[in-house]
Amino acid sequence: MAPFDPHSFADASQPFATHVSLTLYLDFATSTILGSALLTLPSPHTGSLTLDTRSLSNLSPLDPLSLSPLPFSFSPSNPDPVLGQSLTVSLSSHSSLLLTFSTTPASSALQWLSPAQTSSRSHPFVFTQCQSIHARSIFPCQDTPAARICFSAKLNLPRPLSAVMAAAHLARRDPAPGEAGPACPDALWCAQDRVVEEFAMNQPIPPYLFAFAAGDIGFGDVGPRTRVYAEGGTAVLDAAAREFAGTEEMIRVGEALFGPYEWERFDLLVLPPSFPYGGMENPRMVFLTPTVIKGDASGAQVVAHELAHSWTGNLITNKTNEDFWLNEGFTTYAERRIVEMVQGEERAALNTGIGWRGLNEEMERFKDNMEFTKLKPKLAGIDPDDVYSQVPYEKGFQFLWRMERQIGRPAFDEFLKKYISTFKFQSIDTETFLEFLRANVPGIENQIDLKLWVEGTGIPPDAMEPVSTIYTKIVSLAKDFNAGRMPREDEVADWHGQEWELYLENLPKAVEASQVAALDARYRLAESRDWEVKVAFLQLAISSGCKEYFGEVEKTLKQVGRMKYLRPLYTALVQGTGRDEEKMLAKRIFAEAHDGYHPIAQGVVESILAKHS
Ligand code: BES
Ligand code: ZN
Repeated sequence: MAPFDPHSFADASQPFATHVSLTLYLDFATSTILGSALLTLPSPHTGSLTLDTRSLSNLSPLDPLSLSPLPFSFSPSNPDPVLGQSLTVSLSSHSSLLLTFSTTPASSALQWLSPAQTSSRSHPFVFTQCQSIHARSIFPCQDTPAARICFSAKLNLPRPLSAVMAAAHLARRDPAPGEAGPACPDALWCAQDRVVEEFAMNQPIPPYLFAFAAGDIGFGDVGPRTRVYAEGGTAVLDAAAREFAGTEEMIRVGEALFGPYEWERFDLLVLPPSFPYGGMENPRMVFLTPTVIKGDASGAQVVAHELAHSWTGNLITNKTNEDFWLNEGFTTYAERRIVEMVQGEERAALNTGIGWRGLNEEMERFKDNMEFTKLKPKLAGIDPDDVYSQVPYEKGFQFLWRMERQIGRPAFDEFLKKYISTFKFQSIDTETFLEFLRANVPGIENQIDLKLWVEGTGIPPDAMEPVSTIYTKIVSLAKDFNAGRMPREDEVADWHGQEWELYLENLPKAVEASQVAALDARYRLAESRDWEVKVAFLQLAISSGCKEYFGEVEKTLKQVGRMKYLRPLYTALVQGTGRDEEKMLAKRIFAEAHDGYHPIAQGVVESILAKHS
């Protein structure tokens, strides 16, 4: 056994599947999928092939030609709560392998929404979220980002619905008898009210980028290679089309900075409010929370981020989650370069400032667990969802920005382009990056303490707070608040969401309850349409013991499932003032909101509550 990724049972001494062909029968009545996966290997293999699985049932590995069962075993006998179970199949000269299986309601990559849980209220909806290690709960696979696979898929769904996938759409057609093989009987597959949607992803991607959604989905074109998809018959679609009108300009800027856009399409799917992230960089089709639609084009920042992943993350991928900063640090850097080009330096500096604040806060959060302040942490035995933080994003950003300052922007831009063209469609580790850096920027190790940046804890002394007029002004206004001075109307006249966000995040964690109420009376922050502002304010209100906002907190926690908002609010409730009343409130709200949250978000909130019970 030679596992190399602490989050996968995949064995480096065995071949990696290069193609997976899926048939997926979506059963909304039971929130399960009846599926088959045909895995193709690069050459005939004799011996073991080890796959990751979690929360799957009725698993059976078959010879693809004879359909006879192949010998297999599971390990460990009790599934590991984080990793699941390995499935080891014995092959004899096989160059492909067929697996039939069904998902279960516990499959964490899938959220099934009943009609009542959607905005249209008329049709059910299902969507996937596979990063970091949830793909294995949809189909058995070598679920490590070191693997790169092409996909084809046939999705069978109720005729009133349509499906989208992070892949090219090939056809919508009637089901054909026999095409699901042993995975699904024709009586189900070919029933009258069913339809098949076919897709292909012909570029090799890591399994965490596998993604689809199905429901009553409508769309509108917003650019030559960009279509916005969202639940049909809702106002979301129009609002999204307006919000994302500038997408093509950003793609062009990205191409100028980082080289050709290699994925052909850049579509956007706006999901129901329970989507647990701001955005997910699924190739050809980014998944987005509806909370980014604010009516003022500020959602562009999240789109810039997910777009930037088209180069950093999707072309070059972290080899394991310990190298996650290669995805997120580079992408945060690339996102800010795009934002700087389309929205100007001040806006980019504001984002950098919000990130700087966030990074400093993580140091506080991890003060008893400094391992997680490292750029390359050790993650054996750790659920990546539990330690998700700003560190890979912002410390990674700082590391790259430090390099840019050292060698100058023109040289660093050249370096980045060469890095991307050298490693595209590969999964690499931090050491490979450092080797490339040393080879292409001779002497860099004498100018920057690379070891301290990569292996050290905390924030290195040569990291830098951004310098900009607006940023500096806001931080100093936040300091004044402490001394009892609130910003004047003329000082905030041209503030948007991000200015308020930065202001609120730079206030002390808790202040006088009367001061919080006075601030809100003047600027109506608890009712902000901007979720970042609203949540930053409510967090301050909870920690300052302002009970009059608990109603708004409850409403917010029941309206959205984006973890960026759930985490701080639940955390503030359970640890903020240390009172039992808040803890009870957190527990009650969670019990009531639980079913509306995505399984990943459920897990994260559970662990916040467990830590403080
Ligand atoms: N790839 C991440 C989301 C992610 C990370 C999902 C880890 C699962 C595990 C995505 O690109 C991201 O960073 N999203 C941010 C957007 C922001 C930085 C603009 C988010 O969701 O908040
Ligand atoms: Zn990202």
